Amino acid sequence: MIRKLLAALLTTSLASAQQPASQPAQDPGKHAMVVTIHHDASDAGLQILRQGGNAVDAAVAVGFALAVVLPQAGNLGGGGFMLFRDARNGKAHFVDFRERAPQAATATMYQDAQGNVVPGLSTLGYKAIGVPGSVAGLAYAQQHFGRLTLAQDMAPAIRLATDGYVLSAEEARTFHASNLAQFPESKRIFQRDGNFYAAGDTFKQPDLARTLTTLAAHPDDFYRGKLAEQLARSVQTHGGLLTEADLAAYKVVDRNPLVGEYTTHGQRYDIITSPPPSSGGIALIETLNILSHFDLPAAGADRSTAQVHLITEAFRRAYMDRADYLGDPDYATIPLTQLASPAYAAAWATTIDANKPTPSAELKRPAGFLPPPPTAAPQPHESNQTTHYSIVDQDGNAVAVTYTLNGIFGCGATAEGLGFLLNNEMDDFSSKPGSPNMFGLIQGPANAIAPGHRPLSSMTPTIVTTHAAPGHPAELRLVLGSPGGSTIITTVANDLISTLVNGLTIQQAADAARFHQQYLPDTLDLEKRFDHATAAALAAMGYKINQANAADEKNPGTWGDSELIEVNAQGTLIGGHDHRHSFGSIASY
Ligand code: DON
Repeated sequence: MIRKLLAALLTTSLASAQQPASQPAQDPGKHAMVVTIHHDASDAGLQILRQGGNAVDAAVAVGFALAVVLPQAGNLGGGGFMLFRDARNGKAHFVDFRERAPQAATATMYQDAQGNVVPGLSTLGYKAIGVPGSVAGLAYAQQHFGRLTLAQDMAPAIRLATDGYVLSAEEARTFHASNLAQFPESKRIFQRDGNFYAAGDTFKQPDLARTLTTLAAHPDDFYRGKLAEQLARSVQTHGGLLTEADLAAYKVVDRNPLVGEYTTHGQRYDIITSPPPSSGGIALIETLNILSHFDLPAAGADRSTAQVHLITEAFRRAYMDRADYLGDPDYATIPLTQLASPAYAAAWATTIDANKPTPSAELKRPAGFLPPPPTAAPQPHESNQTTHYSIVDQDGNAVAVTYTLNGIFGCGATAEGLGFLLNNEMDDFSSKPGSPNMFGLIQGPANAIAPGHRPLSSMTPTIVTTHAAPGHPAELRLVLGSPGGSTIITTVANDLISTLVNGLTIQQAADAARFHQQYLPDTLDLEKRFDHATAAALAAMGYKINQANAADEKNPGTWGDSELIEVNAQGTLIGGHDHRHSFGSIASY
């Protein structure tokens, strides 16, 4: 099942699925760098940096630009997380602009009278929409941490929407998505009512340009003005729940990031990462804590059988805890301190057999560290299109943003007259206890649908610095993140391990064939390019391998999209752009 889902995840990357295991490193940037999945968005960020904007200004510019040039994931109608580290004082902020459930949402809203989950209700169309947070989040970040004005930061996006941008073959193919065809406004805008766009065509979005122009002057209009009225009316006319009151009640939360530590090759690092409602940061920290009990370099090289085994077993244990304990921290008590405790990781590490996998069904959590998990587990869904970008500015400020519509083109519906697509983030909640979700993830009752709650996420924007010591202030080393639903956490962990532990360049880390384990289902998922001899060795150890079939032309056999920055010991910026997609770029000066 996972293979099918992962195939759905990145069907747009077919053309670029057969990448070699590593690519030559890109030219190092001199002062500042922007790495995104879309070259026009990277250029937008760079332009703002050149105008004197800082990393947050550039991140705001990229966020709005991706809403234009990456409609399948970039968005005004979705939500996400921005992690910002201020170079002046090392303070980090986690701007949470995750969607919220509308007030009329109920725990059983995706079930029929018999209590069965209605297929598609939480993913397709107006009932799937959570209250969007992206406009509020980007405006908040700009206002609190930016240097320029919002209008300046939004100018590149307005230009791209007004003048259009040139579509590549991969992008034009993406517009054939079947969910768009089911909504007249989306079909009109993205599919020209059936006269599909082709490679080389210029795609202009006048409705979106008008909306962006309004927001550049009055961002709050999205939540309390005419735009809010129009958006709520459009959704309600088609049976959705979103009201003007939901929009007016939306709040960005400026949270403290989680900070873990990891030591390798004698260097201690601080891992600054995503707190709940993301599950990503705590699962990443737990994974690294468990792995700190093993000598990974001695076990083997990057992607060797022994390393993949140890890392996979750490993933399995962290994802078991994710399943049982995580949800919206504003409504559930999450035992974060216990989950991140070194003693707990040490106890988990002793349960790993160096020679064979532990079947998930037999996995027993070490006793005495955590309260009992909540019972009656509902299960949410996570699905397939999101985007991540990384920025470092001329002063060393760093920003990692992951934001999403959830599924590709979100719920498929475009707000009438406003030109932007709406999310299907409600699918990240549980639809019904016990029913399997599209990624096979299992999660606890803390993540049930309830008015105002934020659904649990896997998005894991992360920043790594050296640990400060007397006379040695912390130095920025990595800016990390990826899309990919439940695979985000394992992708970020692998990028970090490949770079810091195994010495891969940041580019090689981005391109290395991926592996993923998430406790349940009990499979080891491998990208199509993953070395077949190693896969066979892992199968011989006892793993149930789930590797994309090279003969399956519809299955790109890849997932995720790492858009990364490394800062080496000399302070040089080096970009890692994921070659699974063909239209991104590293922009620097
Ligand atoms: O928040 C989450 O974890 C999901 N909504 C992310 C979805 C995603 O990454 C799909 N991307 N390919």
